Amino acid sequence: MTTAIGQPLERVDGRAKVTGSARYSTEIPATGMAHACLVGAQVAAGRVTAVDASDAWEEPGVLAVLTHENLPRIAAQPPLVPSLFGGPAPGETFFPMQDDTVHYGGQAVALVVADTHERAQHAAALLRVEYEESEPLTTIEQGRDQAYEPEAIFGGFLPGHSARGDIEAGLEKADTVVECTYTFAANNHNPLETSGTTAMWDGDELLLHDATQGVNATQLTVAALLGIPLSKIRVLGHYVGGSFGCKAMIWHHPALAALAAREVGRPVKLALTRAQMFTSCGHREEQEQHITLGATDDGRLTALRHHKLSPTSHFDDWAEPSLNSAAQMYACPNYEGAYRLFRANTMTPTFMRGPGDSTGLFALECAMDELAERTGLDPIELRLRNFADSDPVSGNPWSSNGLKECYERGAARFGWYERDPEPRSRREGNWLIGTGMAAAGYPAPPPGTPQRARARIYADGSVVVQAATPEFGTGVATVMAQVAADALGVPVERCRFEKGDTDFPGIAAAVGSAGAGMISAAVHTAATALRDQLVREAVADSGSPLHGADPADVAVRDGVMTVSSPGAPSEAYADLLQRNHRPDAEASGTWNPPGLDTPYGMLTFGAQFAEVAVDPELGMVRVRRMTGAFAPGRVLNTRTVRSQLTGGMLWGLGQALLEANHMEPRTGRWAAGSLGDYLIAVNADAPDVEVELVEVEDRVVNPLGVKGVGEIGQVGANAAIANAVHHATGRRIRKMPITIEDII
Ligand code: MOS
Repeated sequence: MTTAIGQPLERVDGRAKVTGSARYSTEIPATGMAHACLVGAQVAAGRVTAVDASDAWEEPGVLAVLTHENLPRIAAQPPLVPSLFGGPAPGETFFPMQDDTVHYGGQAVALVVADTHERAQHAAALLRVEYEESEPLTTIEQGRDQAYEPEAIFGGFLPGHSARGDIEAGLEKADTVVECTYTFAANNHNPLETSGTTAMWDGDELLLHDATQGVNATQLTVAALLGIPLSKIRVLGHYVGGSFGCKAMIWHHPALAALAAREVGRPVKLALTRAQMFTSCGHREEQEQHITLGATDDGRLTALRHHKLSPTSHFDDWAEPSLNSAAQMYACPNYEGAYRLFRANTMTPTFMRGPGDSTGLFALECAMDELAERTGLDPIELRLRNFADSDPVSGNPWSSNGLKECYERGAARFGWYERDPEPRSRREGNWLIGTGMAAAGYPAPPPGTPQRARARIYADGSVVVQAATPEFGTGVATVMAQVAADALGVPVERCRFEKGDTDFPGIAAAVGSAGAGMISAAVHTAATALRDQLVREAVADSGSPLHGADPADVAVRDGVMTVSSPGAPSEAYADLLQRNHRPDAEASGTWNPPGLDTPYGMLTFGAQFAEVAVDPELGMVRVRRMTGAFAPGRVLNTRTVRSQLTGGMLWGLGQALLEANHMEPRTGRWAAGSLGDYLIAVNADAPDVEVELVEVEDRVVNPLGVKGVGEIGQVGANAAIANAVHHATGRRIRKMPITIEDII
């Protein structure tokens, strides 16, 4: 039987998005709309000594100038907890304009509200803010000596230090030791839609339209900050123009928009500018990772040591979790991993696509490539010799794996074995050609809280399913209709998925590639409950042809319930409802995710391959083609899944060759603050990208076995490129991004 799940359906909202009829959160019209502009600190450390707003107030239409002197105080600062866990999730445990302190450059020091956007912008430019400046500390070079070992990172969810076996004994046993330091430039968030919120009060009730990965996360966070009950705040977020982690945690602007709207008694729109995206919604931190691999002559790992050093803010111990999948990838008995942090004049870093694992596995997979060269083994053969049959961290079996198939099918599709392993062995004119590969892994974490959805069928047979998740570009609206269609046994054209409203059943923020798994679990549970309810009603109904049948013998297809017995009596859902004069039927579903102590290793696997051409005289690196093979569990829609994986791989290309920001050490400000100088991969950089899907069955992660595709496409792509650059040139470049200066 053909299922809706897996079909490459086009996005139901594609047309609305490309024609501009999709309304984003700061495009919502309202009578009397006022416009707010954030003003960011011009120094990176110190305090605000004076704000002269006299010129700003001269500007017609100005409604408010809010600073630390008059912005209402927040009610409470909730702790920093990753938004996946379903609670308040502030981006950092610091709220601006509560006093005169400046902790980082660009930190909000004022908010100007006016009747038009242009007037607000102009007035903001007229504001004179004076500072007492102290010396900023922002870079690893400056902060290295002050590093400490945090007990925990990531909102307290991950230990600062972890170990298994005996690392020293493992190194003793090694015939070969590879020891490398990798450096990573900071990365900034630049989705198409900048972050923004529209806030409207009606009496004591607040309505927010927010660009967020979780409307519930916005609701919970703003409610805590403002001290108002959840019942008084509704958050809508129907369309979101890309997120990739910057809208996973809830930054200051939604609460600031709400405070400003209350202050001026009008709806207020607050959109971050492109420049403010560099200072107002987190970033991937600058980092340094140190890897030590010990191995026997036949390539078996005896020891893996993985240390990371990175700056964090003055208030939170945050590092992107780079020691997760890198610790689980190989069957190495002796392991030690540690984070080191230092306090810097920076905001708290945050999630960015492939959070942690894309940098952690860059380091590990480049070091593995060096080990392959040392031991004379093909890189895939080396990895197969260290294949982990069970999760090396917990010793538990994998919930599903598929890594060997990824190596095999990725290598076949890419033509991996056609290479001469000798570096600098292939040349085309000025171009040195090389190929490289890397393994990929990303955790398939269940969310921490129950996930809910609601399914309704009307008497005409059409179905509406609702859940409070926004659509931030992943295709969730399309895919969840497919999930509901199969669970109910109705054609997908009859199913509509409604989303992006806290009045709908709650879903945690879609973060860490967990979105498709948890939302599909809730939708599947709700739609199955509705199906079971209708079947039970039919068999109990003396007027139904199904009367008296065993519900277990009933199958539903095209909206028709049919008993698998002689004569095959059947009745359509619609007929059952109409006969009983019922306009509709409805059921809710709650999925209780497996606990964090579930006795399985849950990791999504993949293998990445890249071919590069390097002009050693001009320092140019061109990626010619990429192949990625991934085993993301059940594939809900091959089109949206391929699109996510392809996008992730191209992001990996950008990370390997383009994306970088650096702090100017004297001023403590970002060197790049626009898309003119912060480079991202564009179409001209994009090579042929092939995606190979390896479907594996997973009965643990969630009812449909969906492990997620948001991040895995990006993980390892950077390392495959760096390894290909080595193969082309014979040079190891242990940093990201690889730039012209590294090549010439
Ligand atoms: Mo994803 S970077 O965890 O939003």
